[in-house]
Amino acid sequence: MAGRLPPEFIDQLLARTDIVELIGSRLQLRKAGREFQARCPFHDEKTPSFSVSPDKQFYHCFGCGAHGNAIGFLMEYDHLPFREAVEELAERAGLEIPNDGTPMQAAPDHGPLYRLMEDAALYYRRQLREHPEAQRAVAYLKERGLTGEIAAHFGLGYAPARGNPVLAQFGRDTATRTRLQTVGLVSEQDGWPYDKFRDRVLFPIRDRRGRVIGFGGRVLGDGKPKYLNSPETPIFHKGRELYGLHEAQQANRTFDALIVVEGYLDVIALAQSGITNAVATLGTATTPEHLNQLLKLAPDIVFCFDGDRAGRAAAWKALETALPLATGHQAIRFLFLSEGDDPDTLVRREGAEGFRSGLKQAQPLSDFLFEHLSASMDTTTMDGRARFASQLQPYIDRLPAGFYRDLLIRRLADFTGAPAQALRPAVARRRQPAARLAQPTRPSLVAQVIALLLDRPDLAPQALALNDDWRRSTQRGIDVLIQLLDILRQSPDLSKARLLERWREHPHFGYLQRLSVDPFLRDMTPEGAGAELTGAIRRLSDEVREHEWRQLLNKRSPSEWTPEERARLARPDWDVREPEQD
Ligand code: UTP
Ligand code: MN
Repeated sequence: MAGRLPPEFIDQLLARTDIVELIGSRLQLRKAGREFQARCPFHDEKTPSFSVSPDKQFYHCFGCGAHGNAIGFLMEYDHLPFREAVEELAERAGLEIPNDGTPMQAAPDHGPLYRLMEDAALYYRRQLREHPEAQRAVAYLKERGLTGEIAAHFGLGYAPARGNPVLAQFGRDTATRTRLQTVGLVSEQDGWPYDKFRDRVLFPIRDRRGRVIGFGGRVLGDGKPKYLNSPETPIFHKGRELYGLHEAQQANRTFDALIVVEGYLDVIALAQSGITNAVATLGTATTPEHLNQLLKLAPDIVFCFDGDRAGRAAAWKALETALPLATGHQAIRFLFLSEGDDPDTLVRREGAEGFRSGLKQAQPLSDFLFEHLSASMDTTTMDGRARFASQLQPYIDRLPAGFYRDLLIRRLADFTGAPAQALRPAVARRRQPAARLAQPTRPSLVAQVIALLLDRPDLAPQALALNDDWRRSTQRGIDVLIQLLDILRQSPDLSKARLLERWREHPHFGYLQRLSVDPFLRDMTPEGAGAELTGAIRRLSDEVREHEWRQLLNKRSPSEWTPEERARLARPDWDVREPEQD
């Protein structure tokens, strides 16, 4: 895990980045006044309500509420984690990501490994087209029904049979020879290095950013082992990667569903038939990391496994992994193909439409759970049902607390005739706080001031020029406001984007970002914002003074007042109204 990136660097990065150019490289932007507009990439719409502000270096969709700076955009649009979004921007801006200076191990630079893999992928691709012996590989792919177009799209290659071509091609210096071993392209036996992949069709495996991180190699025919895969390397972790995800994301802006299949060729055959939302695990079981990624990308995850015993077993393992993540907000479903079929053969026989209609039959997680556990039991008797309930209970206990678990408990209760309360795990009885619904009310006064400053940092000098009695306020959020103005006092030229970025680590980052696009900000003109801001701050200070005034008067006698308090009462700038009796 790489260390934290220094905030100064992030700030510099945003200062060097133009969000209009960044978003313009991915969407068709049209100038509209001081801003740019596009159809929102985060929801379906006919008329553009997505706007990008060059001044604020911020985007905001009035339709769906999506918003953020350049980093946020990459995180959302390219589905990148923070660190990778920063890396991407740094690359665009030509900035070197600094070593964060912590004595802990600095993030190793894997750049050379990625470049070597990219070069190797290009090399293998060229062999498929040019190598005199690649005809067999081409024939094999054709026999499998692949078009040249789809083979090129997935970057398929061929590893020649004879000699050690990759070693010969790239291994001229010791450093590269070592790297070839590190990335698993070259193995060693008795001190002699040799090419790992020979006479195989190669499937480059890309990470979500499209970097080649590994290969799968299939024999041309019936040899063993059928597939040879890159080993785990510093840049390739099978438990984390999904084959085809990069290509799927290139083909789809958003996903209605993601289909998880078992094989490289399943992904490719589906893509060729127009089903571009399939990914494959890399010959490993589905990990929680896989599932977390999938659940972030799509509301419906369909595991599509062979109908044989191995497929059922793999599905059951996937179910067990999915249980702690099954909230019911997203569908997790299972589709079992008939014996002897895999997605590749099925889609070739029945076409995309046939495959899609098959997908509709996929079993929800709960059905699979019930069916699998009851399959070997006689649930027609009371004893059988009791046994079934006791078998199911530990699985239900692994579900996160919430409505989905409650529904399953209800279903089990209906099925067994036992009272639901008896089936509920102890923890389920604790009440979950209900999510508060967003309300279109105007934010509190403090929140309004914060929102105005976040949206228009250029107004900070006006705020700083005012009497700052408001700093003594005890209202929620005052600490944030104080910190915000301190930042702006020191760095008066921050754009909205750079200002917000400083709060990313703050527990209320999400809230602050939302506040910065609160609808109330739209009720004012750019010129009116300054007046709103100073008005709101004055009211805050008034409230503080009034509160203190009332407190003073509530003290039994003026003799108890401290000299400070007397002085405060005597201050002429006080706009004191008669306190009401409370
Ligand atoms: P399958 O045996 O289902 O192969 O393995 P497949 O993908 O359908 O391939 P074809 O259609 O016979 O060519 C599914 C996945 O399991 C991994 C691979 O990732 C493969 O895509 N696997 C399988 C291996 O890693 N090694 C093997 O020897 C076999
Ligand atoms: Mn197959």
